[in-house]
Amino acid sequence: MTQVAPEAVTGLDVEQVRQDFPILSQTVNGNPLVYLDNAASAQKPRAVLDAMTRYYETSHANVHRGAHTLGDRATAAFEGARETVRRFINAASTREVIWTRGTTEAINVVANGLAPELKPGDEILVSHMEHHANIVPWQMIAERTGAVLKVIAINDAGELDLDSFEQQLGERTRVLAVGHVSNVLGTINPIKNLISRAKAAGAFTLIDGAQATPHMQPDVQDLDCDFYVFSSHKLFGPTGIGVLYGREQLLERMPPFQGGGEMIEQVTFEKTTWNQLPYKFEAGTPAIAEAIGLAAAIDYLDALGRPAIAAAEEKLWQSVMQHAADFPGLRLIGTARDKVPVLSFAIDGLHPSDIGTLLDQQGIAIRTGHHCAMPLMERFQVPGTARASFAFYNTLDEVDRLFAALQKIQRLFAN
Ligand code: ALA
Repeated sequence: MTQVAPEAVTGLDVEQVRQDFPILSQTVNGNPLVYLDNAASAQKPRAVLDAMTRYYETSHANVHRGAHTLGDRATAAFEGARETVRRFINAASTREVIWTRGTTEAINVVANGLAPELKPGDEILVSHMEHHANIVPWQMIAERTGAVLKVIAINDAGELDLDSFEQQLGERTRVLAVGHVSNVLGTINPIKNLISRAKAAGAFTLIDGAQATPHMQPDVQDLDCDFYVFSSHKLFGPTGIGVLYGREQLLERMPPFQGGGEMIEQVTFEKTTWNQLPYKFEAGTPAIAEAIGLAAAIDYLDALGRPAIAAAEEKLWQSVMQHAADFPGLRLIGTARDKVPVLSFAIDGLHPSDIGTLLDQQGIAIRTGHHCAMPLMERFQVPGTARASFAFYNTLDEVDRLFAALQKIQRLFAN
C-alpha cells in the first residue's frame, strides 16, 4: 500500500460516508450487500446523482452552439467540469483535457494518433500486466505500421522487472504504454521512473490510470508523461465518459480520431480543417451530464480528503492481509510491496467462478475470470482469479464477512 502521512490517519466516518451511496444499503439474496467489485466499476455518491439530475432538470441543451440561455448554462457547466478535471490531474491547460467514452477509447485515440509517427521496426513497449485495452490497440497499430510490440516481464510478486524494462528499452522504442496500477494485481508501478527513462530514449509515454485514479491523484506535469488516461466510472462518477490528457504539442500533431460535428473548423467538399484543441478530438454531441457527474465525483472525493481516503483503505487492507494469511489453501496472485487494495486469489480445489457465484448467494459481489488480462493469467498459470477490490466505503465488518463466506464455501466443497 502507499504510504499514509501519520497526521492523516484520523480516518473517515465510514458509516456516515456510506449514507452518501444509496445503492449500498440494500439486501442481495437475503443478505446486506457487500460490494467488493470496485475495480470493475465503483458506486456513485448522491452528490453525483444529484448533479446529473439537477443538470437535466434545469440546464440541459446542446453545448457550444450558443444562441440561448440553456445552451449557455450547459456549456458553462460542461467546460467547468473540464476545468475540474484539469485541476484534478494538474494539466497545464484545459486544451490538454479531452473527453472520451472511457480509458479504452482514450488509448485508441492515442494509438491512432501516433500511427503516423511509427515506421516498420519501431517498437511499442507494454508490460506483461496490462489490461487488454492497453495491448490490443497497440497490436492493431503495429499491424498497420509494421511496428513491433515488446513486453516488459514481471516477477512472481507481480512487480515490473526493471532489468527487463532496461533491456527492452532502446533506440527503436517509440512508445511506452503501461498501467499506473494493475487491475488484477493491484501493483502500483514506478511510473515516474519509467517515464523519465523512456523519454530519455526518445519514446512517447502513455499511462493507463484507470485503476490508479480511484486511489490516488496523478500530477501529469510532475510525472512528465505525454498521455494519461482514465475512466469516470471507476472514479465514483458515471459510466460513458473518460479522460485523455495529452501534451498540447502532441495533440496538435496528431490526426483526429473521428470525423463529424464539433471537431471541425471549416468544411467544404474539397477540404476540411480541424477545430482547435480540445474539440478536435470530440466529434459529435458529447456526454454533457456525464462530464458534470464526473466533476461532482472529483469534488466529492476532494471534500472527503485524499489522505483520509488512503488511511481508510490502508486500514481495510491490513485486515484483508491478516485474514488472507490465516486462510488455508488461499493463494494470493499479486504480492507487490506497493499496492492498492485489490485482492486477487485462488483457493485450492475451487474454481474462481464457483467462488463468485457462491459469494453472490451470500450477498457479496466480487469479480472472477481473466479480468481482461489473459497474458497475465498465463504468466501466473491460472485460468482466472477471484478478485475482491475495495473502496473507502467498505467496512472492516465486510472484510470479516468476505472471509467467513469463503470459509463456508471451502467447507461446502470439502464435504
Ligand atoms: N477493467 C475492469 C476490471 O478490471 C472492468 O474489472
